[in-house]
Amino acid sequence: MPNRVRTAVFPVAGLGTRFLPATKAMPKEMLTVVDRPLIQYAVDEAREAGIEHFVFVTGRNKGVIEDHFDRQYELEHTLESRGKLDALSELQKDLPSAGQSSFTRQQEPLGLGHAVWCARELVSDQPFALLLPDMVFQARPGVLKQMMETYEQTGGNIIGVEEVDPKDVSSYGIVARGAGPDSGFKITGMVEKPKPADAPSNLFISGRYILQPEIFSLLGEQTKGAGGEIQLTDAMQMLIRTQDFTGVKYAGKGFDCGSKLGFLTANVVFALDRPDLAEAFRNEIRGLI
Ligand code: G1P
Repeated sequence: MPNRVRTAVFPVAGLGTRFLPATKAMPKEMLTVVDRPLIQYAVDEAREAGIEHFVFVTGRNKGVIEDHFDRQYELEHTLESRGKLDALSELQKDLPSAGQSSFTRQQEPLGLGHAVWCARELVSDQPFALLLPDMVFQARPGVLKQMMETYEQTGGNIIGVEEVDPKDVSSYGIVARGAGPDSGFKITGMVEKPKPADAPSNLFISGRYILQPEIFSLLGEQTKGAGGEIQLTDAMQMLIRTQDFTGVKYAGKGFDCGSKLGFLTANVVFALDRPDLAEAFRNEIRGLI
């Protein structure tokens, strides 16, 4: 049995420039799909997969995220005194338990690889999950849980992947696929934001990873890659020389809420999936188009 994955890292230091002015004073991870912030979807997915320690790599102006995962006594008291007990228990259900969350800061925006490296002391010498909250998924069970099932068989490093339109490969990390089924195939290489002509496949790294702690020393010595940033994909491409990487082409669909189109689509899809909204919302949309 491989070492159990207890810790998940959530990089939430990004500046969110693609959503200005909405993200001038508010973290982009607090943008909502229907009525839940993006970061809540990622935390829910991690809890479903059995994660017990939630490590947030934050930055300036991100204090609201810490507040979001804390009790709010005044609100709880008001809901209770108004008899809104369902809303109250929903709120309490969303919270990690006391002592399960840790926060550290990425002091400079040097890239995703650097953000992950900032979590090294909190993660320590154990495998960890990494969830990029820009990506939200319609998947049952959740994407990380599906990956965890593969990890229990294979150990090593796991990357969640999904197909992307070949013309869009240059927005993502792309893997080269070796032998094995969708539920666990060998990854033979990966490249960050390739030109379509150089992409080894159209399977993109969709922001869900299970990684071994040896990634940290590689991230620590790293130089800048695509876009002048310290790239996680480059460090993984180094680690693949000595450790196995398994791809999981999960059942489900991801929405890239780091782009306006993905974010708007996610809102429509998730609203249409909500029993309390679906029918009325469908009628509104029909009227519009
Ligand atoms: C990051 C990763 C990339 C991955 C993407 C998923 O890119 O570097 O490999 O495909 O997230 O959203 P970013 O979106 O930060 O440019």
